[in-house]
Amino acid sequence: MPRLAYVNGRYVPHAQAAVHIEDRGFQFADGVYEVVALMNGRFADEVGHLDRLERSLRELRISMPMPRKALQIVLRQFARRSRLKNAVIYIQVTRGSSPRDFKFPPERRSTLVMTARPVTFGQLVGRKAITVPDIRWKRRDIKTTALVAQVLAKQAAVDKGAYEAWLVDDKGFVTEGSSANAWIVDKSGNLVTRPTQGSMILKGVTRNALQALCKKEKIKIIERAFTPQEAYKAKEAFTTAAVSLVTPIVELDGHKIGSGQVGALTKKILAIYIAYAKNPAQKQERWDSR
Ligand code: PDD
Repeated sequence: MPRLAYVNGRYVPHAQAAVHIEDRGFQFADGVYEVVALMNGRFADEVGHLDRLERSLRELRISMPMPRKALQIVLRQFARRSRLKNAVIYIQVTRGSSPRDFKFPPERRSTLVMTARPVTFGQLVGRKAITVPDIRWKRRDIKTTALVAQVLAKQAAVDKGAYEAWLVDDKGFVTEGSSANAWIVDKSGNLVTRPTQGSMILKGVTRNALQALCKKEKIKIIERAFTPQEAYKAKEAFTTAAVSLVTPIVELDGHKIGSGQVGALTKKILAIYIAYAKNPAQKQERWDSR
């Protein structure tokens, strides 16, 4: 069974999937994306990801390539045709292709592409991270494909033998990971993560669901910015994102965090999220930009 991709209404072999060279996603990073986990054949936090996709598109004045209901049908078709039950689905929408010109093209036909790759969820591997200055643009609340700052950050991590980079703002506070939200566990066992008000970070769909889930579990979340120095002394640290769900960070800038092993609360958070995402009876959390 060859790997499939979806390109503007067609299911095509992945190796031959292509958009035009003047697609605005390619030339201007004029597009947005979502990454959705497919777990046991069910899209984790589908509602939240589609809420955020619509909002990102609205903010950039790109039209939805099709109504949400139709997109949900395409997503299911794509997963079925790809014969995948556990995967990450990548969805990208751009402002379409037209001769290179900065202003919006007169004709609006968004490009929609999807790819999928199989994933085993639920693994917890402790990772090293480094901190780097956050050099991104100011609208980090929009999930755009303009990711070169994150590419450089991640590569800086890899160059130093680490896995992830945590980005640090001009005042010395961690904003988020290069492709995930950043969390620490303080001395009292509370979760600490940066607030999403404003546009300094992306409001993660995983983060959003965990807020509601932790409330039910009576795990306290304190929304405030923290510094790398505070993180060095934290009991635990981890990131959240749709790809790996929860990634334990056991070392930051060479400082061992807590015992240097995957922490108990980190394990619990992953278990809580997986139970939520896999349960068909569970109502999915809405996502909004506030
Ligand atoms: N990234 N912050 C940033 C900068 C991200 O790129 C992501 C996700 C998140 C977490 O968002 P969510 O929980 O909705 O996945 C936070 C995706 C997975 C990526 O770029 O591959």
